[in-house]
Amino acid sequence: MPFTLPLLPFAKNALAPHISERTMGFHYDKHHAGYVKKLNNQIEGTDYANMALEDIIRKADASGDSGIFNNAAQIWNHTFFWDSLSPNGGTKPDAPLSEAIKTSFGSFDDFNKAFVEAGKGQFGSGWVWLVSNAGKLSITTTKDALTPVLDDSIPLLTCDVWEHAYYLDYQNRRGDFLQAFVDELANWTFAEQQFQLNGQKDYWSLVEERSA
Ligand SMILES: [Fe+2]
Repeated sequence: MPFTLPLLPFAKNALAPHISERTMGFHYDKHHAGYVKKLNNQIEGTDYANMALEDIIRKADASGDSGIFNNAAQIWNHTFFWDSLSPNGGTKPDAPLSEAIKTSFGSFDDFNKAFVEAGKGQFGSGWVWLVSNAGKLSITTTKDALTPVLDDSIPLLTCDVWEHAYYLDYQNRRGDFLQAFVDELANWTFAEQQFQLNGQKDYWSLVEERSA
């Protein structure tokens, strides 16, 4: 079965003014949909054709199939990013995630500052993540399409820092976009679910269950 573009969990205008409908139109309908289309073309008739998305990502990375890797990882990363956003976001997490944040970063405000700084510091295109390793939280960044799917960490939340994510709304002010993410958009309900699941289920299987 070819991959389909997962539905957005909110309306394209629901995040405005922090992320405009115009940005969402390009980001979801052009970029994200483009990755799905390209991956389906690349894997048709190959060993990859019937594999789960996480398995494609790992195999393509191990085999040096960079075109397949980039499109598969970007499908995963973008779907995870939409889940990391909410029109009612920018709240605070509840326990036990709130406690883990306090232990790992000192305070919720310290976490927010560190997340914004990490995203600003990522040179060029990439992603900033909140991840959990055996309950210990940290902030990481990945370049281009690289993704925590490749390591043992469990991602809880991400923000896309490719220019296409913010340039129409913020031009070069990536820091203002990241500040809007933590203040207004971060979906802590989703992060809490991921923290609770603790990697017991692949994220993509949840996406597929949801769209079945
Ligand atoms: Fe993106």
